[in-house]
Amino acid sequence: MAYEPKEKNPPNWKGDFPIRQDEATHVTRREFAKFLCLLSGGLALGNGYVVLSSFAYPDKELEGEHLVCNTSEVPVGGMTMFAIKGTKEIPYILIHLAEGEWRAFEQKCTHLSCAVVYRDEVKKIECPCHNGWFSADTGEVLQGPPPRALPQLSVVVRNEKVYVTAFKDTIS
Ligand code: FES
Repeated sequence: MAYEPKEKNPPNWKGDFPIRQDEATHVTRREFAKFLCLLSGGLALGNGYVVLSSFAYPDKELEGEHLVCNTSEVPVGGMTMFAIKGTKEIPYILIHLAEGEWRAFEQKCTHLSCAVVYRDEVKKIECPCHNGWFSADTGEVLQGPPPRALPQLSVVVRNEKVYVTAFKDTIS
């Protein structure tokens, strides 16, 4: 069966829009240079914004006390997670090490930022990503690739409520 166009007078695209193919795909040096300038300018602006915003919102030391939970919510040997909102939201873990002994650490591993967890069976903090281990007492690295101790908060218990404050190292 022979092909029959549906329209009697199909549009004459080539006649109506007389642009040669080599003209349609041609990009002049000037246009290309303009494109590169816009692209590199955009990248420079983006990087500048990141740098400036880090100056505008510096990491501040934690101020004041922050309520975490009631003492009854975390049994001895237990752990709970909490976050404190500041310039950014930082995740922490609160550990009930022994009767009346509490510890709070940042939950981000100091190696590649995986979430650490408290393992009561060995009384240590584990980073499951690369088998990193930290002391549940001080946050120091015990084993594995983490380069630094976990940042710690001080824990204050008052009226059966657990609060955290910025950590003050009383030894040094
Ligand atoms: S991210 Fe924790 S050990 Fe690698």
